[in-house]
Amino acid sequence: MADTYDFGLVGLGVMGRNFILNVADNGFSAFGNDLDEEKVDALIKEGGNTDKVNASSDVKTFVQSLTTPRKIMLLVPAGKIVDSVIEGLLPHLDKGDIIIDGGNSFYTDTDRREAYLKEKGINFFGAGVSGGAEGARKGPSIMPGGSKEAYQHVKPIFEAVSAKYKGEPCVAYLGPKSAGNYVKMVHNGIEYGLMQLTSEIYDILKKAGGLTNGELHKTFSNWNEGRLQSFLVEITSEIFEQKDDLTDGYLVDMILDKAKQKGTGKWTSQNAMDLGIPVPTIDIAVSMREISALKDERIKADELYDRPSPKAVDKNDFTSKTEQALYFAFIITYAQGMHQLADASKEYGYELKLGEIAKIWRAGCIIRAAMLADITEAYQTDENLQNLLLSPSFVEKVKSTVNAARELVSYGAANGIPLPGLSNALTYFDAYTSSRLPLNLIQAQRDYFGSHTYERLDREGIFHTEWEK
Ligand code: 6PG
Repeated sequence: MADTYDFGLVGLGVMGRNFILNVADNGFSAFGNDLDEEKVDALIKEGGNTDKVNASSDVKTFVQSLTTPRKIMLLVPAGKIVDSVIEGLLPHLDKGDIIIDGGNSFYTDTDRREAYLKEKGINFFGAGVSGGAEGARKGPSIMPGGSKEAYQHVKPIFEAVSAKYKGEPCVAYLGPKSAGNYVKMVHNGIEYGLMQLTSEIYDILKKAGGLTNGELHKTFSNWNEGRLQSFLVEITSEIFEQKDDLTDGYLVDMILDKAKQKGTGKWTSQNAMDLGIPVPTIDIAVSMREISALKDERIKADELYDRPSPKAVDKNDFTSKTEQALYFAFIITYAQGMHQLADASKEYGYELKLGEIAKIWRAGCIIRAAMLADITEAYQTDENLQNLLLSPSFVEKVKSTVNAARELVSYGAANGIPLPGLSNALTYFDAYTSSRLPLNLIQAQRDYFGSHTYERLDREGIFHTEWEK
């Protein structure tokens, strides 16, 4: 056993245990801590063939086993537990030690904790970690924010354990304060959008195209070989293959259609509203999880209203249109999330480099996708790019796929198949690319009933009219 260990980790659930083993695989020694003795023992057993892993349920032993400045990562559920773990560690820490919160903490909590710990001379990092249990074990995408100087101590370990995209680590210092948690929050908002879109495409392929689970598996596998290549498309193709253990059917058909959520998508939407940045595809993805939860009401309502039977379509042509539409809507979802990041960076002083963010999302994380290489390039070419839709490199990609989205949205509307994410992405595109919107009328109405004033197209100034009633 080593005398002191390079890295400490509190919270030995699946994620924590996997992260520690990953650290050890990469040549660093790591010490785990959890109140639960069973988890401590499990880790010691699992890491037993190496002298690089150890663990204790005692906080003091844990802290004293670490090399200074101590680098302690917390992988515990977001919320009050993070505060109580910090309080438990504090009496044993020295100035200059580093605590890294690797959970999905709300960014204002991270700001509060950072300020609190700064007074005590402790560096605090909010670091989003994406990739689920497998990512933690084999290489996640890591999104750290906090003190730039302190990051130098963590950097070698994070770079070693993170996922690699063509040899480049999927981790980078993102910015001060809660930059890391904020970026992870928006990552999850994008994740919600992409998942909603994928579920709609599944629905329409099944109901209109009549694709069986076997055909859906093949279709998504084929897509995963092309421009839609991504983690979510890949796992979707695998999901359609999974047989049910309890019946003769496929598992996907037996799963209740109520999607749960832990809050990060909702926070993304709420914060986008606060910033005044439109992210409607993410908003609707959150709303759809809420609608999905109303299963009993949906069953009652389904009995009250008729729905057209989907018109027959040419399967191959229809499948090719869905590929184009999904590609289009994925671009729009990333565009909205990146737009939010650009604005939040100014508002909260994060100094985010969007090219760096897209770069560390290319592997390891849930939203990793081939198109992130193009997004990285777009932001590296123009780091002040306001919206992906304004990047010359995306114009052709969007132009060549938007019409398929139009066709599918019309088909869905005419045939009673809800495509809220796709239609939202399309509406966002049509509105964002309209130099003239009808909101002049809203201004007129506001001025009419509330003297709220308006501006004019042809001259500067603020105007009010005594409207003829
Ligand atoms: C990740 C995921 C991860 C978590 C989601 C699930 O990047 O690894 O985003 O953090 O699985 O947040 O969120 P919901 O439970 O809200 O769907």
